[in-house]
Amino acid sequence: MAKALIIGCGGVASVAIHKCCQNSAIFTDICIASRTVEKCDALAKKLAPTTKTRISTAQVDANNVGELVALIEQFQPNLVMNLALPYQDLAIMDACLATRVNYLDTANYEPEDEAKFEYSWQWAYRERFRKAGITALLGSGFDPGVTGVFAAYAQKHYFDTIEYIDILDCNAGDHGYPFATNFNPEINIREVTAKGSYWEGGHWVETEPLAIKRVYDFPQIGNKDMYLLHHEELESLALNIRGIKRIRFFMTFGESYLTHLRCLQNVGMTSITPIIFEGRPIIPLQFLKAVLPDPSSLGPRTKGKTNIGCIFQGLKDGRPRSYYVYNVCDHEACYREVGSQAVAYTTGVPAMIGASLLMSGIWSGPGVFNIEEFDPDPFMAALNKWGLPWVEDFDPILVD
Ligand SMILES: NC(=O)c1ccc[n+]([C@@H]2O[C@H](COP(=O)([O-])OP(=O)(O)OC[C@H]3O[C@@H](n4cnc5c(N)ncnc54)[C@H](OP(=O)(O)O)[C@@H]3O)[C@@H](O)[C@H]2O)c1
Repeated sequence: MAKALIIGCGGVASVAIHKCCQNSAIFTDICIASRTVEKCDALAKKLAPTTKTRISTAQVDANNVGELVALIEQFQPNLVMNLALPYQDLAIMDACLATRVNYLDTANYEPEDEAKFEYSWQWAYRERFRKAGITALLGSGFDPGVTGVFAAYAQKHYFDTIEYIDILDCNAGDHGYPFATNFNPEINIREVTAKGSYWEGGHWVETEPLAIKRVYDFPQIGNKDMYLLHHEELESLALNIRGIKRIRFFMTFGESYLTHLRCLQNVGMTSITPIIFEGRPIIPLQFLKAVLPDPSSLGPRTKGKTNIGCIFQGLKDGRPRSYYVYNVCDHEACYREVGSQAVAYTTGVPAMIGASLLMSGIWSGPGVFNIEEFDPDPFMAALNKWGLPWVEDFDPILVD
């Protein structure tokens, strides 16, 4: 029925590509295009005998708009899925505008030379996408992504007003390494070492990095330390959920991860300011990425579960109500199915689902949208169908 051009072939993209190939009725043709074409070729070779989806591959530098435009004109996709890095968001959006093709990503733009992410850069494309008659779906991963869908679902079915949202992201997986990140190390470390913040009473409250800690008893996992982070969906949910008073985001980290991170920070290894090493400039964080385990190699080693969800508090028919909706995902089960650990799985599956809703026309409209702006029901149904079933609790433990 439709063609998707998938940019990137790392941990998240690999899961999304597996799932597109399971959903050949929608994804009749895909082109996997990335910087290192050998990775695309190897994945295409592995999947071709298992699927009706026709798979082609290409080499592309997604920072180069001209190269992207040429590839889009040659492949003629209905949608470009940006599963490379947030640095490439704007170049790919420019290429989509030039060729009038729909766009999807899983992370909002951040400039490579400044550890700062926010939607303003991509929201600035709203009018141009609207005029071109094409759709951009921003943040179709888990968080952002499913967390926004959960919010839209809670708003649609259970609340007149949502006043408080706590997003809880727990990864209780153990890969056996003293220190490794579960998705791109550079992006992950930039996120975790940034200042924390949350939205309250109509404005941002900023905190020192990892300064606010809580312990939460996660269903199917147990007690874990979690820390308040700034996270991109806070920004769009603060706009799109009516009556909201406070939104916070917490992520769990183990002591070993934090001790290593502190040490790496203290010696300057997480810096993105170039230094001269043996006569040439290098960026310490990029060097660190090169020596850390590749997240896509963690699959066979990781045991345990993730639990990611949202707790909502608000009013229904004048009475207070609370509601927790979450997904539990097992690292080993993900590996058996698609050869990846659960962090890549929980991002790659929603990327495929968002893409399938756009490609089938169930979600449509000209402009740039965050995921909670669309009808959540078909996405919620697809989560159950494609491997991320959700659980509801109407009497959850709340976070103080
Ligand atoms: N929303 C969520 O829930 C969520 C959760 C986790 C991750 N994410 C996002 O998912 C994305 C992918 O993460 P990941 O862990 O899969 O990263 P990854 O394993 O490092 O993969 C990134 C891929 O992008 C390719 N790439 C990088 N720069 C490129 C360029 N200039 N041109 C073409 N291809 C390029 C890389 O190519 P090489 O193979 O040559 O390096 C690699 O295939 C990131 O944006 C991350 O922020 C979202």
